[in-house]
Amino acid sequence: MATRVIGAASLTRDLGRWRNDEPGGAPADSGKRAARPAYVALAESIRLLIHDGRAPLGVALPSERDLATSLSVSRTTVTSAYSLLREHGYLISRQGSRSTVALPPTVVHDGAKPARSILAMMAQPELPTIDMTYAAMAAPPQMNEAYSFALQGLPTYLGTHGMDPVGVLMLREALARRYTERGLPTEPDQILITLGAQHGLRLLLNVLTTPAERVLIEHPTYPNAIEAIRDVGARPVPVPMRPDGWDLDGIRSAARQTAASVAYLIPDFNNPTGHLLDAEGRAELAAIARETRMTVIVDESMVDLDLTGLESPPPAAAFARNSEIVTIGSASKSFWGGLRVGWVRANQALITKLLGTRSTVDLGTPVMDQLATVHLLRNADEILTTRRDQLRSRRAVLLETLAEELPDWRVTPGAGGMSLWAQLPAPVSTALAATAPNHGVLLAAGPRFGVQGAFERFIRLPFTHEESDLRVAVKSIAAATSALTPHAGDPLAPLITY
Ligand SMILES: Cc1ncc(COP(=O)(O)O)c(C=O)c1O
Repeated sequence: MATRVIGAASLTRDLGRWRNDEPGGAPADSGKRAARPAYVALAESIRLLIHDGRAPLGVALPSERDLATSLSVSRTTVTSAYSLLREHGYLISRQGSRSTVALPPTVVHDGAKPARSILAMMAQPELPTIDMTYAAMAAPPQMNEAYSFALQGLPTYLGTHGMDPVGVLMLREALARRYTERGLPTEPDQILITLGAQHGLRLLLNVLTTPAERVLIEHPTYPNAIEAIRDVGARPVPVPMRPDGWDLDGIRSAARQTAASVAYLIPDFNNPTGHLLDAEGRAELAAIARETRMTVIVDESMVDLDLTGLESPPPAAAFARNSEIVTIGSASKSFWGGLRVGWVRANQALITKLLGTRSTVDLGTPVMDQLATVHLLRNADEILTTRRDQLRSRRAVLLETLAEELPDWRVTPGAGGMSLWAQLPAPVSTALAATAPNHGVLLAAGPRFGVQGAFERFIRLPFTHEESDLRVAVKSIAAATSALTPHAGDPLAPLITY
């Protein structure tokens, strides 16, 4: 298979103001960096793009000549920068082929997921611990009513065996109506009720992939999706997100270059960044899927959590002409994760295949939880208005406290969702997550949201806790940050000398 290549123009754009002497360049520690030669500044900036997942492992960098032209620097500058990166294990060169991005062996690849119980054990027992590893809210007060409604409706089902693998018709009708109202005409038999979106994703991966198949993912993305892709033996192919959203050209070229037949994307408030793909982007995504014969699994778990107050674009699948976009949805973020109710919206042929694979794993979603979800959907406007107000106010408190306690962290809120993706001044995310339990807070380190060791300079901060807890959490994170020794968790920092 051809090696994926980053174009010189694309790398130039990602590098932004990389030179010490450019106006606005090298912000936080410009004093320290001002004397660095250009090739070191360039090597350091490329190194940070590698750590941030924006230059994926295995991808070839532009030729020295192309990059030199594109950056308007001498070829020697690029040659020296590449040599420095090669020397420190960030580039691998093979005879006669381009240099490809790598990570030195000292860096932990794939941000191996620390078991939560281990993190919890590390927490000080006397300190109340705020768990920021989850982005999920407590149930709304309407939950009692929802289960009373379910109990009243239950007798209709008690005369049957109650195990309907496709799901209760009343719920499928309610969901089909919702899609149709959002601009995606849908029949109830295009819906399969699952045990949450994660279950839906896993069923789809079972049907749509074969071992070793490539699955495109936006990068960063939802960690359990990465795990699910790996678990079926497929290989996640990261397409870096830009600071303002999706790189559709990158998705198109990665689809062509890797011949991936499946992609998994979260256009309605990417977890963790909160970005939203606009209508134009959705139309282009559908076109890419058609051109490259790729099935795009669109995860709409967060779709109800728009925090802008603006009109939402139609579902991504509304831009498809055929079956190129499959949608998964969930009641977990809109209502409550404990319901364990999700769904897949697809054409009937795919629903039938999914039913075939489901019976080897489970035999259906509990009837009570499905009926409770029907009630919650009927009251969705009221529940979601409150939920969005809460999230907006919590996010404001989180942003305000971060600005006070950690002013050198860079945070740009997305359009919705439940978390901020904060950029740290140094690649210490894993070290911070390891230290944080000692200060009463559990954190998911940035590398969990990516592959190949990316995102050591990022951390996800959910704003699902109450305001008072968020204030305490940020103060604890600030204390944990100052407890880190310089260069903790970044064994490479001293390697490139300034
Ligand atoms: C993007 C995304 N997809 C899926 C899930 C899991 O959803 P469910 O609880 O419906 O399995 C989550 C939960 O965090 C999520 O953020």
